[in-house]
Order: sequence, then structure tokens, then C-alpha cells
Amino acid sequence: MKILVINGPNINMLGIREKKIYGELSYDKLVETLKKKASELNFEIECFQNNIEGEIINIIQKAYGKFDGIIINPAAYTHYSIAILDAIKSVSIPTVEVHLSNIHSREEFRHRSVTAAGCVGQISGFGAYGYIMALDYFSNIRSEDG
Ligand code: DQA
Repeated sequence: MKILVINGPNINMLGIREKKIYGELSYDKLVETLKKKASELNFEIECFQNNIEGEIINIIQKAYGKFDGIIINPAAYTHYSIAILDAIKSVSIPTVEVHLSNIHSREEFRHRSVTAAGCVGQISGFGAYGYIMALDYFSNIRSEDG
């Protein structure tokens, strides 16, 4: 199973930005943790981070026919990018939306996710563990597929 992890704007600043909200873990450490978990599950994994909406859309489009699952944290684009929503819907790859923080307990403008409508579901508020949960989800559907 091939999984693509996409992180949006400012996720490269993990460990530096608003530590009380996003924690101490750096982006590089997050990627390391995900690669370790993926290898335990026998998954192939690729991780991307980009600060630009169009680049995120390009990454999603290029995944078409190549990946079995996408884990995406669209970061601030979550709340207004219809273009990312359309890209997710275009490729028909099961996608899980992840947020480090609980977007529903924060400012009102973060409560709404435009992109979640194209996803299987959303995991929000569990820090880096949310991405691990998403990998477990894919492991679970792989087992169901036999
Ligand atoms: C975030 C939540 C967003 O509201 C915010 O803009 C981010 C990160 C999260 O992972 O908690 O950059 O997606």
C-alpha cells in the first residue's frame, strides 16, 4: 500500500511556531516518526510539505493512479480552499484529513473545514498521533480488503 502525506503552509515551522498549540516536535521528526510507523505496517510512504496552494494541488493531481491513500493536513487552506477540495475529489483516492490541534475548540474561523467534504473523515486535536491514527485507518482497510 502506498500512502502520500501532504502538509500545508507553516507545518514546516513545527517545533518553532506556537508551541503551546502545536507542540515541540519538528517537521523533520514528524516525518521520521511517520516513516517508522509506515515501515512497521509495511507501507510505502512519501511525505511532502508545501506552503503554496497550487503546489499542493499539483502534488494531489500527480498522486492519481499512484497512491492508495492520502493523509493531508491542509493547514490554513483547510478553512477556505475549494481548489484543494476539488483536487481531492478529482483523484478519487481515499483521503484522511489530519489536524494537530483541535480546530473545533479554537477560533471560530477554524471550525469550518472546506476540504473535509472530500475526505473519508477528519482527525483533529491529537497532535502528531493523529497522523499515526490515519496510518492505522489505512492498515485497517487493507486488512478488510483481504
Ligand atoms: C492546523 C490548524 C489550522 O487552523 C492552522 O491554520 C494550521 C494547522 C492544525 O494542524 O492544527 O496551520 O491545520
